[in-house]
Amino acid sequence: MAKKKRTLFIVGVALALAYLIIPYGCAPSKPEMVKTVQIPDGEIDPELWGKAYPEEFETWKKTNDPEPAGKSKYKRGMDADHLTYDKLAEYPYMAVLFNGWGFGVEYNEPRGHSKMIRDQLEIDASRLKAGGVCLSCKTPYSVQLQKQLGEDYYSKPYKEILAMIPEKNRELGVACIDCHDNKDMGLKISRGYTLGAALDAMKVDQKNLTRQEKRSAVCAQCHVTYNIPKNKEMKSVGLFFPWQGSKWGAITIENIIKVIRSDDSYREWKQNVTGFKMGFIRHPEFELFSNNSVHWKAGASCADCHMPYTKVGVKKISDHRVMSPLKNDMKACMQCHTETAAWLKEQVTAIQDRTVSLQIRAGNATAGLAKLFETTHKAQAEGKVIDKALYDKARDYYEEAFYRSLFIGAENSIGFHNPTEAMRVLGDSLAFASKAEGYLRQALAKAGVDVPLKIDLEIAKYLDNRGDKKIKWDKAVEFKDPFGVQDHF
Ligand code: HEC
Ligand code: HEC
Ligand code: HEC
Ligand code: HEC
Repeated sequence: MAKKKRTLFIVGVALALAYLIIPYGCAPSKPEMVKTVQIPDGEIDPELWGKAYPEEFETWKKTNDPEPAGKSKYKRGMDADHLTYDKLAEYPYMAVLFNGWGFGVEYNEPRGHSKMIRDQLEIDASRLKAGGVCLSCKTPYSVQLQKQLGEDYYSKPYKEILAMIPEKNRELGVACIDCHDNKDMGLKISRGYTLGAALDAMKVDQKNLTRQEKRSAVCAQCHVTYNIPKNKEMKSVGLFFPWQGSKWGAITIENIIKVIRSDDSYREWKQNVTGFKMGFIRHPEFELFSNNSVHWKAGASCADCHMPYTKVGVKKISDHRVMSPLKNDMKACMQCHTETAAWLKEQVTAIQDRTVSLQIRAGNATAGLAKLFETTHKAQAEGKVIDKALYDKARDYYEEAFYRSLFIGAENSIGFHNPTEAMRVLGDSLAFASKAEGYLRQALAKAGVDVPLKIDLEIAKYLDNRGDKKIKWDKAVEFKDPFGVQDHF
């Protein structure tokens, strides 16, 4: 090899090597693990883990502190009275649609991780009717209780299963063991019976998940939607994520709806307004985020935005005070972005304003449709004959509209986790609701039933009749369409 050529070759190899050791994307570098202290197998008590890792333990405990108020437009945090914010008051159309079971009585915005069991103990008892199954995302003990009790774990009364947890840790929320391997502190999925099974259904081998994917997967043990199948007596018989037929990185609302509608045992409740038995969708943060969002595609994870690196003394650690990045002055975003905190916050609020506008319209359209079914059923009871083909089509589209508005309304980022997908889903919800309303109006006209141009949602009727839970929303604010488009309807 001539000298010049050889130099070029060496430079080339050096460049190739340099390229290989540059970390992927713009993700910030990982903190050094200072020590690895042995934590006994199966040890749940965070205080013992905390002896080995005091900095992470201290920030983890802070999820019990009141959240900084006044920093986020839609996720307002707790006020001085430790009030939780009432979603039914924020989005009154939900009070109409969810009337018939616990979610129509009390449905609150999320709070810090350490409060999860206490929030369950304070919530209206109707929300815990499903039984012990409600503990699955709330206590690290759920894993062993499920193993030990089998079907009883799901169906036995909530309080009975809760009482089986050692008293000292009965009100403990997410603990170290939920996310970590005690041997090397690597990330680990502890809930094999839910997330593990859901990954198997998509043929995803847990062992092949990258570190970055695991930084989302640990959260996907709970921040996902789930179904609680019921037996004939409406007792809970299991728990699963409706991911069958979906792919990693593309768990779509279309597939989720397909699963929910595929079996009557997944219809967990009866909607009062329509009398229809329905399924339900809860907090699908992982599904929305991982479905081809810009940040997912860029290799970002839940932990990047909700557990930013922070300095404690001389140590750099992952902030275990998991919360909204807005309440931490956008520090998480600035690990990757060079824009100012103010610019980044404006982006978030702009995305959320657009989402809320369409969400309110889709939600109100769906609730209006539910009221129109109520009118239809009244007319039928009075002997009017309703065209079956039109009715069936309207009912089919009603469910499609309902689940779509439910999906985005239950997702906790108000569209930020995947703005374009959120708008697509809401647009489709509105389209299905409008089509269905057309069919139902046609059927009613054919039967000679007069329907007013504007359907009254009778919101006060649903929002006011919630027993003592009404006190909570005296302070709550209803979110209005920021662009005023809803005022036209
Ligand atoms: C074992 C279940 C579980 C796991 C695992 C879990 N969460 Fe949560 N998370 C919850 C529950 C339940 C709440 C609501 C608690 C309440 O309102 O009482 C919550 C609340 C939150 C909140 C709102 C906090 C606030 O201050 O309002 C954020 C943000 C959050 N989780 C993000 C994450 C991220 C990111 C991960 C993964 C690193 C994660 N969670 C892992 C169950 C879990
Ligand atoms: C909701 C999930 C979750 C819980 C609960 C949790 N951690 Fe972590 N922890 C993480 C994630 C995510 C990372 C980042 C790991 C990575 O990047 O590989 C992490 C990292 C760590 C690290 C490595 C150093 C660092 O700070 O990045 C230690 C040590 C640690 N956690 C200790 C604890 C202890 C102690 C507890 C309980 C008091 C705990 N963790 C609870 C998710 C969790
Ligand atoms: C690119 C950054 C980013 C990523 C990645 C991300 N989030 Fe978020 N998340 C946000 C922002 C911004 C909000 C809106 C917070 C607000 O309005 O105050 C939010 C809101 C939330 C909330 C509601 C917080 C509250 O105060 O009520 C939860 C829960 C949540 N995210 C969980 C997750 C989970 C779980 C993942 C992964 C599946 C994830 N996030 C991924 C940025 C992110
Ligand atoms: C792990 C790194 C990382 C973190 C943390 C992160 N981002 Fe990003 N963000 C990216 C990358 C990479 C892109 C894509 C940029 C591109 O392709 O131009 C992006 C894109 C965006 C975009 C444009 C989205 C679009 O649809 O084009 C916005 C807005 C944004 N980020 C805001 C935020 C906010 C707000 C936070 C904090 C809550 C945040 N990001 C946290 C890496 C990150």
